[in-house]
Amino acid sequence: MKIGILISGRGSNMAAIVEAVQSGEIPNSEIAVVISDKTDAQGLQKAKEENIETLVIEKNNRKRAEHDAEIVGELKKRNVELVCLAGYMRLLSPDFVRAFPNKILNIHPSLLPSFKGLDAQKQAIEYGVKFSGCTIHFVDESLDGGAIVAQKVVEVKEDDTAETLATRILEQEHALYIEAIAKIVRRNFKIVGRRIINPTLT
Ligand code: GRF
Repeated sequence: MKIGILISGRGSNMAAIVEAVQSGEIPNSEIAVVISDKTDAQGLQKAKEENIETLVIEKNNRKRAEHDAEIVGELKKRNVELVCLAGYMRLLSPDFVRAFPNKILNIHPSLLPSFKGLDAQKQAIEYGVKFSGCTIHFVDESLDGGAIVAQKVVEVKEDDTAETLATRILEQEHALYIEAIAKIVRRNFKIVGRRIINPTLT
């Protein structure tokens, strides 16, 4: 499966996905391109070191739809079949989502539907939850609202700060994202309403 990854920053999830594709943990796949909307995204360097094609497509003064159309064009040109958002800090336009139905994944550092949007780890600490975690979900037109593919629980400790919690959640994010992509690549799932379920259970 040809995978395209969108980033805006550090790119640690992207690096984990690249490594899992190279090791075969994500089977029969290749990373076709890594696209960033920020020229200074650290992840770009990491992708280049792995000889993966990188593109910077900035929004500049364009409308979101125009910016997204350019990104969709580059993904389609490379026959990308699965788009993985990995710290990509923009909401996708409806046309982008429609161009890849149930073929865009995102990772979010909370147990959705709790703590959508920015600073999810800080939101969790301030709310006082005892457990948070991370979620892999399909992307629809809402913010962090698509069907859930996988989740992992992380305990919130009493002396946690947003940063210490984020570090422990991030460790789980990498493993969970790889597991979820492998499931999608193997087409080992079925979509029933909002539920992503094991096909052998139906
Ligand atoms: C991760 O915490 C991810 O859940 C969120 O943005 C962060 C990206 O980190 N969407 P990285 O760029 O993958 O290191």
